[in-house]
Amino acid sequence: MDALVIYDSLSGNTEKVAQRIYETSAKSVPSQIVKVNKDTDIDLLDHDLVFIGSGVIDWLPTKTLTAFVQRTMKTANKQGRIKPAAPIIPGKFAVCFATFGGPHIGVGEAVPMTLWLRSALAHLGFIVLDEWHVPGQFANRPELNQGGRLGNIEGRPDAHDLQDTENRVRGILASLSAWWE
Ligand SMILES: Cc1cc2nc3c(=O)[nH]c(=O)nc-3n(C[C@H](O)[C@H](O)[C@H](O)COP(=O)(O)O)c2cc1C
Repeated sequence: MDALVIYDSLSGNTEKVAQRIYETSAKSVPSQIVKVNKDTDIDLLDHDLVFIGSGVIDWLPTKTLTAFVQRTMKTANKQGRIKPAAPIIPGKFAVCFATFGGPHIGVGEAVPMTLWLRSALAHLGFIVLDEWHVPGQFANRPELNQGGRLGNIEGRPDAHDLQDTENRVRGILASLSAWWE
């Protein structure tokens, strides 16, 4: 079993989470980390455990991650891999993750994004095991880092958030131990 961490990050918050996911998974299974760009051309189904995420931008993934997922779905569709009932491909698992500020309605600002990612991966045949939503401070709008639905999010994701991420990765890997080579 191998793991791929694929992400986008505008101000570095999601990068911190992605990096911790990668460092943790790499201790147990062969792992790669990729920051998407406009040319990223990766077949997600070449990997057994995919962690995919970005910061929440207007309730959605970044434009670059959105475009990557749309390219992926278009290619899969052309290849006839998007099938009625989305048959589950044995041994293919995913986790969707987001960092978000949640200033107005809290985690409800991040859930649409991870659900969108979840839908895409489930269409491909992945079993999506979880969605993680990690608070991430606004880099350029400090006034939004206090007094929102999450309270004070200055400095998030912080050491505690990253430890929590690590713990979750360990849990996911433990749950999949039957698939390890
Ligand atoms: C242009 C912009 C739009 C954003 N929109 C939202 C939003 O709709 N909901 C939310 O919860 N956070 C929003 N945020 C906050 C980011 O999701 C948060 O700071 C995140 O951790 C950024 O991750 P990154 O540094 O990996 O890009 C926005 C941030 C920016 C810069």
